[in-house]
Amino acid sequence: MSTPSDAQIELREVTHAYKTDAGPLPVLDNLSLTVREGAFCAVVGPSGCGKSTLTRLIAGLMRPDEGQVWLHRELVTSPKPTVGMAFQNPVLLEWRTILKNVMLPLEIVAPSMPMAQREERARHLLHLVGLEGFEDKRPSELSGGMRQRASLCRSIVHKPEVLILDEPFGALDAFTREDLWQTMHNLRAEEPFTCVLITHDLRESVYLADEIAVLSARPARLQYLMEVDLPKDRPLDVLYEPKAVEMLAELRHQIQIAQGRAAPDAEAAA
Ligand SMILES: Nc1ncnc2c1ncn2[C@@H]1O[C@H](COP(=O)(O)OP(=O)(O)OP(=O)(O)O)[C@@H](O)[C@H]1O
Ligand SMILES: [Mg+2]
Repeated sequence: MSTPSDAQIELREVTHAYKTDAGPLPVLDNLSLTVREGAFCAVVGPSGCGKSTLTRLIAGLMRPDEGQVWLHRELVTSPKPTVGMAFQNPVLLEWRTILKNVMLPLEIVAPSMPMAQREERARHLLHLVGLEGFEDKRPSELSGGMRQRASLCRSIVHKPEVLILDEPFGALDAFTREDLWQTMHNLRAEEPFTCVLITHDLRESVYLADEIAVLSARPARLQYLMEVDLPKDRPLDVLYEPKAVEMLAELRHQIQIAQGRAAPDAEAAA
């Protein structure tokens, strides 16, 4: 096994199939992907192609049949406290206040941290995402967008090196979603982390990411990789500029190829 690179996340020739009653279901096919430290990588691909499976492998919740997953030069064999996760439906505990929900990972990962310090950290994040004043509310008293903000705070409260987001904004209305994109930029500017974002929203991928990986249909391979050559500080209007419009058109084209609705590019097919 050769040594891993300096990349923060490195998937190396990962192949995986689920065992089902009908036989093995191949989901990932020789997938290689590297995300450098501090980078934000968006992953898009047809529905059911294996994106959530990919997040489970990076999080160490599953091991691949073949290939390896490395996080900062360490082979992933089990879940690591240096990874934070957030999903489409924020699973917040109703019997805890928002503040206590956000503090939860610290109780597990940093039990020796003084309570006052844990609380200060959670309050700081809630303030950053605009939830100041809601610390003592229960999850059911918040809107979907607010719950998702709280869930984002919880996923980074323990300062993970790697953040995995599986369609965290998918269930939100368009305006709330755009608000949360800005929140993500703010969080990232304040506390750098390496991020993998699974999304179906191509505009979201262009607005948030430094690079975008397009996966093929199941079993997923890396079909196309795009560098997002836009300034780090992005107002939403950047999405209407010719460069972004061009990127979106290319991504749409790549998704159509993945869905079998457009012919593969001659160069890629050769
Ligand atoms: N635990 C499991 N056992 C068997 N099959 C599974 C399991 N989890 C997922 N699958 C199947 O594996 C394939 C990939 O699933 P996965 O959830 O990774 O796709 P996805 O790209 O995240 O889909 P979506 O875009 O709909 O979220 C699907 O066909 C799914 O039915
Ligand atoms: Mg999924």
